[in-house]
Amino acid sequence: MPDLKTHLAERCAFVDSMLDRLIPSADTAPSTIHRAMRHSVFAGGKRLRPILCLAAAEACGGGKESAAFAACAVECLHTYSLIHDDLPSMDNDDFRRGVPTCHKVFGDGIAILAGDALQALAFEILVKTPVTVRHSAGALIAELARTAGSLHLVGGQVADLEGEGQKLPLEALRFIHENKTAALLATSLKLGGMSADCQPEELAALHDFGMAAGLAFQIIDDILDVTQTSEKLGKSAGKDLASEKSTYPALIGLDASRDEAHRLTRVAHDSLAIFGPRGARLRELADHLLAREY
Ligand code: IPE
Ligand code: IPE
Ligand code: MG
Ligand code: MG
Ligand code: MG
Repeated sequence: MPDLKTHLAERCAFVDSMLDRLIPSADTAPSTIHRAMRHSVFAGGKRLRPILCLAAAEACGGGKESAAFAACAVECLHTYSLIHDDLPSMDNDDFRRGVPTCHKVFGDGIAILAGDALQALAFEILVKTPVTVRHSAGALIAELARTAGSLHLVGGQVADLEGEGQKLPLEALRFIHENKTAALLATSLKLGGMSADCQPEELAALHDFGMAAGLAFQIIDDILDVTQTSEKLGKSAGKDLASEKSTYPALIGLDASRDEAHRLTRVAHDSLAIFGPRGARLRELADHLLAREY
């Protein structure tokens, strides 16, 4: 198994070259929308969801080729969610992935449409996944659609917006984090597993792993918002306090937030038991999500 640094670099390059082929070129008419989509996709995201998707496929005995479309699909869906998250009517952010946000460069209208187009493109790409015995194209689509919709990602974002200016109970904050963030991480892993024809027990394990690692991931995001610089994050730090968001550090303090992220990472590790040695990379990736500095 190549070391993690080499693995991450190789997977980023693989996903980027696939995305470059799958997203219409910048000069495709109408070029504004394709330039806007590419501006946000190729600004330098960490590609963690596709990397998790590919690793899950491998943990289930599959290869990165059959999981590649699902990996690109979740990155398109995630990038759409970031473009909309940054809009003035949502978190109102000027920087993302180290560059000005989509609406800052292209205006709100085009940014909304770039998000819409990336969400649609995610499904168009996802259905290129080769069909397996246990998992139909319809099942893959249903998995991503459910997670993207009002019960999960959008629902979490709604609760996040409506919670601004209030000190929410921890349970309500956990609901937000699980839905706006953890659900898509879990789905990224599950789609990878499904592309590898995973068994129902493996799918359930990937779900549990993703929900625990995903909640830890958003807790770390909250922590970094308080502890890191904007330069390092590639997005404006200190935004949560300024927007009066409920966050883990705001509700339980930095130390207890770190402890909770560690505890959840142990829960994530435990859910990998079914994979035996094949789960080693996923285990390492959960540690990487916990230790990240941006
Ligand atoms: C940022 O996600 C949004 C959250 C759900 C916290 P990432 O930290 O994965 O952002 P990119 O994709 O690397 O830009
Ligand atoms: C973003 O959460 C979650 C989604 C985009 C669905 P945040 O609002 O905390 O993410 P950042 O900090 O802007 O990246
Ligand atoms: Mg937000
Ligand atoms: Mg935000
Ligand atoms: Mg944040």
